[in-house]
Amino acid sequence: MEGVNGSSFMKYGSFVSILVLILAYTFRTPPDALLDDRLDNVLSSLLRAERKVGIDIRARPKVAIGFGGCVDLLVDGVSLMNEMGLSSTNQPLHHDSIENAQQLAQSFAYFFAPGAASERFVMNKTLFSELVETSRGLPGNRWAVGGNAPVMAGRMANEGCDVLLGGTFSPDFTEVLSQHIMVAGNVVEEPDIHLILEYPAGASWGPYTSRRANRYIVHSDDHNPYLDSMDDFAEKLQDFNPDLLVVGGLQMMDNFPFKPAERAALLSQLADMMSSSSAQTGIHFEMASFVDEGLMKDLLNLVVPNANSLGMNEQELPNLLSLLKGSNITVLSDPNPRVATVLDQMRELYSLLNQHHRAGDRGAASATGRRRLTRLHVHTLAFQAMIVTQGSQWKNTMSATAKASLTANRHVCGSPDIDPSKARLIMDDSFSVSRQEGSQRISVDESRPVSCWHEDDYQVCVAPVLVCTEVYQTAGGGDNVSAAGLVLQI
Ligand SMILES: *[C@@H]1O[C@H](CO)[C@@H](O)[C@H](O)[C@H]1NC(C)=O
Ligand SMILES: *[C@@H]1O[C@H](CO)[C@@H](O)[C@H](O)[C@H]1NC(C)=O
Ligand SMILES: *[C@@H]1O[C@H](CO)[C@@H](O)[C@H](O)[C@H]1NC(C)=O
Repeated sequence: MEGVNGSSFMKYGSFVSILVLILAYTFRTPPDALLDDRLDNVLSSLLRAERKVGIDIRARPKVAIGFGGCVDLLVDGVSLMNEMGLSSTNQPLHHDSIENAQQLAQSFAYFFAPGAASERFVMNKTLFSELVETSRGLPGNRWAVGGNAPVMAGRMANEGCDVLLGGTFSPDFTEVLSQHIMVAGNVVEEPDIHLILEYPAGASWGPYTSRRANRYIVHSDDHNPYLDSMDDFAEKLQDFNPDLLVVGGLQMMDNFPFKPAERAALLSQLADMMSSSSAQTGIHFEMASFVDEGLMKDLLNLVVPNANSLGMNEQELPNLLSLLKGSNITVLSDPNPRVATVLDQMRELYSLLNQHHRAGDRGAASATGRRRLTRLHVHTLAFQAMIVTQGSQWKNTMSATAKASLTANRHVCGSPDIDPSKARLIMDDSFSVSRQEGSQRISVDESRPVSCWHEDDYQVCVAPVLVCTEVYQTAGGGDNVSAAGLVLQI
């Protein structure tokens, strides 16, 4: 079923891209120099927008971030598949979790061609060990501190925050963390390993060619799914009294073989921790690649209502929305959506969640600390989009959107300095604010590339991304980008 949906989507997708290419070449062929000028202007304007506000380093904002951590082993995805002898003749097929090598090949094929980010649990420990062993032997393999929480913590600390990080780490791991990060949680000798199968745009594996750079992640965690740093974290949180609490890394619970009611108990405990935070503490929940419907429903009931800010990518947005509207999980969505489509989905999500909020307020639920959603950040390859409620605690939305956009390039290219010769603007010069007929079109002004406007009770900002063309790493991108956006808003 999923396979059929996926391939028809892709055929349609590539037909549209070819059409767009033909139209683009027919109607406007600007000389390269003009394009370069535009890119340079957008870059310098974004840098100006980012610098416009700074965080007060002397005051060092306090940010608490949970949960989990791991060591990432990064490899070239296609090389690993080849070295494992996994054939690309396998039918692309979606699996909620991976039991054997054939399922791995099918699942990789499913996400590789469209270039969609995804993350899956490997049930089979033998297979996972084989994958790790093979990866160790691959040329160019690299180890890095991984996991959503540590990556966000690292970015926040680099930007001048004091961070409380909830996670289970090995002693050598704790050593490489910034001095501005304080760890809450247990120490383990054997940290969880995440295997990151990276691939560039245009990579080929048998009959498949990737449409964009991305990564496919597999793990077989023992510690992270249990949020086993939560007790210690919750205790230290009281005294730490942060300006911002960030919850992420919950996708490690996806399709994990919990005992009955174990997962719900963990998430209830998390909900208690969130709802007992002070009203002055902003709470951000970073979404991830979820396919476990039971887990998603628990998140919608227990975690999302306790957050007033959400961050997600172009896959996670339609997935959450679909479930909220009573439909199924969407495993694969357009990896290059239009601005209008994303903004419509964001408006709908914002209004649905705040409707739930109002409904909850009427009953006893308000006593559980249900929060109003006041911030929504969606990161895509081509642009960053934010919705922030007017009069809410979140500041500097325009600069934050610019910073998120710049961070996307810095992260993927692996350098704090942006080299325009390794960047490309793929967002059009103008965009429609909605797919509704007769909607306003906004043209992207090179000297003020972040477009912001008011609607309803919120502000919307959209910034183009200078898409990195020489990819160093895609994994962790969403976390760095989300953290960079948040840091200017607290
Ligand atoms: C687990 O993976 C190993 C190694 O690939 C394989 O031999 C075994 O059949 C797999 N087990 C199951 C239950 O699929
Ligand atoms: C992303 O965050 C990690 C962890 O803090 C850091 O090592 C990496 O350099 C960051 N990438 C960029 C370019 O910000
Ligand atoms: C939605 O999920 C249900 C239950 O898992 C399944 O029976 C149904 O076929 C799915 N519908 C679609 C449209 O995928």
